Amino acid sequence: NPLQGAQFVLAAHRINQLPADEGAEVAFAGRSNAGKSSALNALTGHRGLARTSKTPGRTQQMVAFSLPPIVHGEALPALEARLIDLPGYGYAKVPEALREHWRREIDRYLHERRSLRGVVLIVDIRHPLKEFDRMMLDFCLRTELACHVLLTKADKLSRNQASQALAALRKELPVGTPATVQVFSSAAGTGVEEARSAVMQLLEG
Ligand code: GTP
Ligand code: MG
Repeated sequence: NPLQGAQFVLAAHRINQLPADEGAEVAFAGRSNAGKSSALNALTGHRGLARTSKTPGRTQQMVAFSLPPIVHGEALPALEARLIDLPGYGYAKVPEALREHWRREIDRYLHERRSLRGVVLIVDIRHPLKEFDRMMLDFCLRTELACHVLLTKADKLSRNQASQALAALRKELPVGTPATVQVFSSAAGTGVEEARSAVMQLLEG
């Protein structure tokens, strides 16, 4: 597992508290309670690495995890690599001022973070493409930022329903969106290998 060895670095309230903007970074974004932190744990193979919770709005920080450096060849310096767990978007019970704070910080992060190589967009397979997801995909289309969509919690659907959800989403993606999509489940371990390769491709790309 190339993502094994991930380590907690820090939790930030503002983007200027994040690690130095160098190397390569992939961010996990999605609606509140979609399963971002769980996906991060499944991919890194560390159960308790990112805090998860039944209560939406659990992650109220940008949490940075370091990965083993990426080596491209002997002649080139190794590249620092990180994963960022972003706060969930849009949970109504989080106070409006805090929601507004994260709206702004996530927006700034996406626009300003130079080491950002791609986004893993976590979507509950039962509730695909809500407003935030569409905004995110539209942003990727406009800025040519690579995106990998995990249709997660697939264990909640039959296999057949899951493939239908996948096909429906692929059809709905605006033409030219630089996104790949797959079925995923942190609980059942579905699609974990495929998602690890996708994250590595984003980091190396
Ligand atoms: P916030 O940080 O609050 O935005 O949430 P999050 O997107 O990080 O979600 P988190 O990983 O904390 O998971 C939210 C809830 O969904 C928890 O109760 C998880 O156990 C559950 N969950 C996450 N992934 C899966 C999955 O693949 N299958 C099932 N059945 N439940 C899942
Ligand atoms: Mg979380």
